[in-house]
Amino acid sequence: MEQMTIKTTPIEGQKPGTSGLRKPTRTFMSAHYLENYVQAIFNGIGGVAGKTLVLGGDGRFFNDRAIQVILRMAAANGVAHMIVGQGGILSTPAASNLIIQHKTDGGLILSASHNPGGIDADFGLKYNVPAGGPAPEDVTAEIFAQTTTLSEYKILEAQDVDLSTLGSSDLAGMRIEIVDPVHDWADLMETLFDFDAIRALFAGGFTFRFDAMHAVTGPYAEDVFVNRLGAPQGTVLNGTPSPDFGGGHPDPNPIWAKPLVDLVMGPDAPDFAAASDGDGDRNMILGKGLYVTPSDSLALLAANAHLAPAYKDGLAGVARSMPTSRAVDRVATAKGLDCYETPTGWKFFGNLLDAGRITICGEESAGTSSDHVREKDGLWAILLWLNILAVRKKPVLDLVRAHWAEFGRNFYARYDYEGIEAESANTLFSGLRDALPGLVGGELGGRIVETADEFSYHDPVDGSVSSAQGIRLTLSGGGRIVFRLSGTGTVGATLRVYLEEATDDPAAVDWDQTEVLAPLAALADDVAGIARITGRTAPDVIA
Ligand code: G1P
Ligand code: ZN
Repeated sequence: MEQMTIKTTPIEGQKPGTSGLRKPTRTFMSAHYLENYVQAIFNGIGGVAGKTLVLGGDGRFFNDRAIQVILRMAAANGVAHMIVGQGGILSTPAASNLIIQHKTDGGLILSASHNPGGIDADFGLKYNVPAGGPAPEDVTAEIFAQTTTLSEYKILEAQDVDLSTLGSSDLAGMRIEIVDPVHDWADLMETLFDFDAIRALFAGGFTFRFDAMHAVTGPYAEDVFVNRLGAPQGTVLNGTPSPDFGGGHPDPNPIWAKPLVDLVMGPDAPDFAAASDGDGDRNMILGKGLYVTPSDSLALLAANAHLAPAYKDGLAGVARSMPTSRAVDRVATAKGLDCYETPTGWKFFGNLLDAGRITICGEESAGTSSDHVREKDGLWAILLWLNILAVRKKPVLDLVRAHWAEFGRNFYARYDYEGIEAESANTLFSGLRDALPGLVGGELGGRIVETADEFSYHDPVDGSVSSAQGIRLTLSGGGRIVFRLSGTGTVGATLRVYLEEATDDPAAVDWDQTEVLAPLAALADDVAGIARITGRTAPDVIA
């Protein structure tokens, strides 16, 4: 086995986004692309000699090849111990759990989350820190800086490592430990939730369908729901992971998980249904005849978490990303909990969780989790729902309506305009920025603009400041419009417009969301000039 130092030159555009580096798969497969980025990570975290790292991914196309390259580079860079999911597979929350449980120096997760997989789709790679969460901005900035000056990388010339057999092996002095991807994470779940109560729920005939969307959670869901909790065979749909996610879009929302939504809206609806994404960190929650928005789900979980053993003493605090609806804020106010507003992206919750300031947090993009790991955890959210349903013994619809009646209701939708020209996006945002000062106190669509600003986050734990995190307008009567650009896209710019109306009117439990939000949608278009600047008269996706 020869150790080689390969000369290379910086590759443009290796800047980590909201969640690591995501690019078209063919880009990742091009000469030196993966190798450069891996070496930049190793250099950016101060070298990896003698360190222990976790490695695994969501199994998408190129996962297997990339893992072999990373192992050879890790050995050449002096890594002491690599903990690898069997077959190169780890869901994102399971990887976070292994990083924490084994007290490692962090980990590398291969995933482009909910983006499609395949040679003509997307690939991604991110580094998680020893605390288990995505690297914060100072770390990703250092990794990016390394990509711009890199002149060589180290790699071993060696045969492929057998990833199929559990146990330890040696690669040029580096210990490789292949672990079951599911086991430790599933054991952790047993410590958090009342498995007996959930088992009794299933034994009583409660029906549940989980759609793994041909992605990484299939084996996790089989183990937890069927083997450990006794749900019947057939509970897990699309449970066999495939490198291109069955040709689909592994994004658990009403558009990409439409068959499951159709099921709960039809005559054969189960009592409860849920789905997760490519790498297992997102969740979608459905009841008979009902889609529960991620923002409402976060609020309801925060209000009821004490029904699960892990959270029985209450929550330290809660947090949501800025564009997420303020439904959870209402719960925090009612329960006297601290509530934090962070920029989009899970990495911003890390400090709050580490400092013990919050227990539960979430994003409107279907990510919810707690302090049990440092990633969002799709199946965790679904298990907490099951625990709550097992205790409350009421249909999902009744629980949600009762929640709105008690805390008030926030209507919420996100409009996505995909693949717009970078130049149009810049024009739109600079126009908005210029208009902000003039908007405050003025009138918009018959309502007063109470605030209009660009969100800057001041991290209360380490004092760091993250600016330009989205433009937001709040309107009298509880309305809010937020504009931001996606940081996870791989081509063109995606404009996200977040619309929210809030009311305490008890009659609002029966109002129609589309109708309630329609005037706000028109206002958003008007104030930002979406149609005028981008030529788009309707969003590509309403989430
Ligand atoms: C999107 C979501 C964000 C989430 C991220 C990673 O980022 O909006 O909440 O954390 O994916 O899953 P965006 O594309 O908006 O930057
Ligand atoms: Zn994901």
